[in-house]
Amino acid sequence: MSTKLSVNINKVALIRNSRGGNLPNLRQVAIDCEEFGAEGITVHPRPDERHVRYSDLPILMEANTTEFNIEGYPSPKFLNHVLSVKPHQCTLVPDPPGVLTSSEGWDISRDKNLLLEVISALKAGGIRVSIFMEAQAGLMELAKEVNTDRVEFYTGGYAERFVDDPKLAVMPHIEAAKEAAKLGLGVNAGHDLNLKNLKYYVNEVPQVLEVSIGHALISDSLYYGLSNTILMYKRQLA
Ligand code: PXP
Repeated sequence: MSTKLSVNINKVALIRNSRGGNLPNLRQVAIDCEEFGAEGITVHPRPDERHVRYSDLPILMEANTTEFNIEGYPSPKFLNHVLSVKPHQCTLVPDPPGVLTSSEGWDISRDKNLLLEVISALKAGGIRVSIFMEAQAGLMELAKEVNTDRVEFYTGGYAERFVDDPKLAVMPHIEAAKEAAKLGLGVNAGHDLNLKNLKYYVNEVPQVLEVSIGHALISDSLYYGLSNTILMYKRQLA
């Protein structure tokens, strides 16, 4: 089974917000991404709502025909919105407010009680839960202890090291994915994945069920168009 592509449309919302109107129309972009082959839509509402807004969430959920994944830090406001919208998946990310982008996974030893409470509430709401993690085999046991369904490996470090040494870059991900699978945890991956580093990653880490990609995919689509670009990414995953 090939890895699913979930397109993160935060950057599209950023363009819309820059002019105050509704161009591009985020709902239509999400529908079109699915038509062009995306197997999921991801958004990441941040506290300042500079990308997707909380008010976009029910509209995107209603239009969704694949899988809707909402990522973010589990503040009470975020959780209220997620529990009311009921996306297919919620990915918990330990972003402090105001951060430019997510750049680290959860420290489960520090945040265990928070995660236990939040994951239990989301699962009781019928929402699959994934938590953003460093790809380290030793951390998977801790992820299991907080009852998450999946882990999302942070691939920013992989992308950076891939340029010089792909084999070394992917090594911890291979080990962590094996460990996750042994414990019955599903594996997602995301951050800084692109047309150069994606195929190698999913070939080496075949457990990956889903990648969520935003920045590079939307940037590539400026040159190739959204429809072509989604097909180009899907070809890397075939
Ligand atoms: N996964 C998580 C948890 C993220 O926060 C982001 C960025 O919003 C991504 C994946 C996608 O990263 P990128 O935009 O670099 O493809």
